[in-house]
Amino acid sequence: MKKPFLLFYLLFVAALAYAEDGYDLWLRYHRIDDASLLQRYRNQINSLYFDISPDDPSPTFEIAKKELIAGLEGLLDKKITQGKDFSSYQLIINKQRSEIVQTALDFSSENLGSEGFKIISLKKIHNKLNRGVNNVIVISANTDGGILYGVFHFLRLLQTHQDISQLNITSIPKIQNRILDHWDNLNRTVERGYAGASIWNWHLLPGYIDKRYIDYARANASIGINGTVLTNVNANAMVLTKPYLEKVAALANVFRPYGIKIYLTARFSAPIEIGGLKTADPLDPEVQTWWKQKVDEIYSYIPDFGGFVVKANSEGQPGPQNYGRTHADGANMFADALAPHHGIVMWRAFVYDARVQKSTENFGDGKADPNASSIASGDRAKQAYDEFKPLDGKFRKNVLLQVKNGPIDFQPREPFSPLFGAMPQTPLVMEFQLTQEYLGQASHLAYEAPLFKECLDADTYSNGKGSTVAKLINGSLDNYPITAIAGVANIGNERNWTLHPFGQANWYAFGRLAWDHDLSSEQIADEWLRQTFTNDPHFIDGARKMMMMSRETLVNYMTPLGLHHIMGTGFHYGPAPWVDNAGRADWNPVYYHRADSAGIGFDRTATGSNAISQYAEGVRKQWEDAKTCDEKYLLWFHHVPWKYKMKSGRTLWDELCYKYYSGVDSVRWMQHTWNGLKKYIDEERFEQVKMLLVIQEKEAVWWRNACLLYFQTFSKMPIPANYEKPDHTLEYYKGLKFLYAPGNGGNL
Ligand code: GCU
Repeated sequence: MKKPFLLFYLLFVAALAYAEDGYDLWLRYHRIDDASLLQRYRNQINSLYFDISPDDPSPTFEIAKKELIAGLEGLLDKKITQGKDFSSYQLIINKQRSEIVQTALDFSSENLGSEGFKIISLKKIHNKLNRGVNNVIVISANTDGGILYGVFHFLRLLQTHQDISQLNITSIPKIQNRILDHWDNLNRTVERGYAGASIWNWHLLPGYIDKRYIDYARANASIGINGTVLTNVNANAMVLTKPYLEKVAALANVFRPYGIKIYLTARFSAPIEIGGLKTADPLDPEVQTWWKQKVDEIYSYIPDFGGFVVKANSEGQPGPQNYGRTHADGANMFADALAPHHGIVMWRAFVYDARVQKSTENFGDGKADPNASSIASGDRAKQAYDEFKPLDGKFRKNVLLQVKNGPIDFQPREPFSPLFGAMPQTPLVMEFQLTQEYLGQASHLAYEAPLFKECLDADTYSNGKGSTVAKLINGSLDNYPITAIAGVANIGNERNWTLHPFGQANWYAFGRLAWDHDLSSEQIADEWLRQTFTNDPHFIDGARKMMMMSRETLVNYMTPLGLHHIMGTGFHYGPAPWVDNAGRADWNPVYYHRADSAGIGFDRTATGSNAISQYAEGVRKQWEDAKTCDEKYLLWFHHVPWKYKMKSGRTLWDELCYKYYSGVDSVRWMQHTWNGLKKYIDEERFEQVKMLLVIQEKEAVWWRNACLLYFQTFSKMPIPANYEKPDHTLEYYKGLKFLYAPGNGGNL
């Protein structure tokens, strides 16, 4: 090789070695770059001791050990020796709770259960020879799974540069089942997926185990996620056939040691489609037997199979109502088949007016429904409650009802679903959406933890003041025997998993909050940034501010003041508040914003749809009067005159303009802030975010202009003169077409 080429080649290889392509997520174990801290950590962790019976090395324990050693060797940049006994300045991993450690720690007051862990710094402890050793840190748990969680937590402490000299951490998950729901199809398209194809390579499974599966499991375990639903809620019965069960079993084998259970979506009509039966009626004995045998077969492949998620009688999916049966009849049939194996059914409450659904498969809006006119007078926001409230108490013990955070559909902002607090006898699963279907998809930076927290911390007043949504789903209010939380995954086969580098934060935040919903959004943002980018305080300060404001910013330029569902139909990309010809009345933006010459907003009080009556009195009292209603929900619950005086003193119209314009201004502030952070991080991810922020700014302007120009045709009021003028006409925005926008499951 000639010299210049050699030099170029070496530089290229060096660049590759340091390339930050985002694949490692928050599990980057780079050498601690603060020299004095590095020295301190090195002193504090001289060696490792695994205080566990050598006859019982489970795969989970081996994984924990490997992760810990790799993590420490990377972060401390030194070889970690393993001791044969306790010694000073040591990290002790203790599962058996050997007597010595047990007497030193006080376990009496807590019940760590099968997943909790304890990390504690001890000044003195005695080794087996009864010699005192100083300054040890113990990671302890009842199970290998608990050890694995403790190890990830400990590594997080080092990655985020925490003081480890006086640790006293006890961590137990507040919710039992913490699950990612993939909306992945067997052909590898992903419904509402914006980060490439499905990570499940069904064609090559079970023979080929992609390394990504292992890293996916590691990432989930590191944030406490312990379940994964592999397939789309708009289900395909094929996944329940033998060849696919073999593939599913291969994935289950990979995930098991990481404490992750597999669930599948069950297509209600599977007995007809793959079983050769004439009906899928849940009360038909033949159908019941078919499902029992199918479930037994699944467990023969996957002994720890978690259970099913079922979307029935919703958006064209078949269900019990096709046979005149109730949702309870349907759910209980699955529950009976799963009960002997301790499996659960997560029955989705995302139904709207199933009575007018066709039972042919479709993917939601954009498809004509001949009965659409019959629901024009209803309110979709009421329908889940109307369907399920009367069924409370009618479900088997292993049925959970899976409820989206809001009553409509993962909008940038919704009030909490009225089902939270209304089902004391039915465990509710919280369903959040990590994939940003309505939040700018993969091109907008929208940190969702504040959205999750807003819902989890909301007071339902169901059992009096303080009955937060979080306390309901963690079972503490209504004593649910099983608890669960689900997040619709935003993961694909893009190199960095989520396409937008900040999309990873939503996956991370979901896991952290599922484990402990009392963590603050800010703390989660902080630790994610430190692990994912750098601990540099300048970077953290700027990037954390960007994250913390990003969701409100997006609400402002898309759907401020309680507006909702005014996006483009079908792909849900961009604004289209003018659409009034979708297949069903309640797929139309005009149905939701109800703008007219008098004002804007959906009257959901007693003078309108009265959806507000579905909430407990404490909530109702705040929201039913426009004067006391939090303005962030104003147009959700009220039809408000254009000249209505807002708390700011502005008219509603001027406030709307103000919000839309401030949304765009905030994106520009984010761009500016990000540009100032260039010197703190790697070029690759810096540039990716920078380019995406340019797209976000353009799209924010598009949302702002299109919505204001359209609403102006009703308000007839001017956009205040000091604001920049929209650069296109309303007709221009109406004419935009996006035939191949991603995310619709390949269904054009
Ligand atoms: C939304 C989404 C659909 C999805 C549905 C669901 O309506 O647009 O693609 O199938 O939610 O949650 O079932």
